[in-house]
Amino acid sequence: MADEVLDWDSAYRGESEGFEGPPPWNIGEPQPELAALIEAGEITGTVLDAGCGHAELALTVAARGQTAVGIDLSPTAIAAARAAAAERGLDNVTLEQGDITAFTGYDGRFDTIVDSTLFHSLPVEGRDGYQRSIVAAAAPGAKYVVLAFAKGAFPAEQEQKPNEVDADELRAAVDPYWVVDEIRPAYIHATVPPLPEGTPAPPIERDAKGRMKMPALLLRAHKPA
Ligand SMILES: C[S@@+](CC[C@H](N)C(=O)[O-])C[C@H]1O[C@@H](n2cnc3c(N)ncnc32)[C@H](O)[C@@H]1O
Repeated sequence: MADEVLDWDSAYRGESEGFEGPPPWNIGEPQPELAALIEAGEITGTVLDAGCGHAELALTVAARGQTAVGIDLSPTAIAAARAAAAERGLDNVTLEQGDITAFTGYDGRFDTIVDSTLFHSLPVEGRDGYQRSIVAAAAPGAKYVVLAFAKGAFPAEQEQKPNEVDADELRAAVDPYWVVDEIRPAYIHATVPPLPEGTPAPPIERDAKGRMKMPALLLRAHKPA
């Protein structure tokens, strides 16, 4: 796809120009906002982890006994996710390399579709194809959850950054396809990239594990029954 936000496969191979080492979004567990929804029993039935990366979300719901599918553009991420699934003995999770803006083959299959930091990772012109693809893959009444960076999460002068959204922009993209139930402030947790020695730590909010807490929005919607 044109105008990719990042070369995703390079990032998973540890060769990104944007940061050193492993991707900061690889936190080894589902994003805490989404983990809370899993704990609350809100991520039900057969689950699609859209833009799954290492698929911690799909693997977590699969470990709870649900069927899960993870789709990601990066073959390196999918290979890592498959290795993790095998290591954890999970045979109820399918992990596939594919473009979420144009995927088919799962018509009406999913009860819950979760977007863990994918939305802001897509080029703006990819959003509509993404919505069309996932709504076709959703069962009647299915839930849709998006966790995306809020506008202002990154410094204005930063050149390469995700496509942060405000609530109106997020609603406008989703509203033609889903009934939007809620958009609320949330956080995305990310590891802190290594800073050159002697650099003072930036004044960023941290969680109990020392990870950055970055401003985000959490959208919850459903497909009409
Ligand atoms: C910020 S990462 C989030 C990964 C994972 N969901 C997580 O929470 O750790 C964004 C992911 O979206 C994937 N991605 C970007 N564009 C995509 C596309 N068109 N189709 C499928 N996946 C895509 C990237 O490869 C990357 O794994």
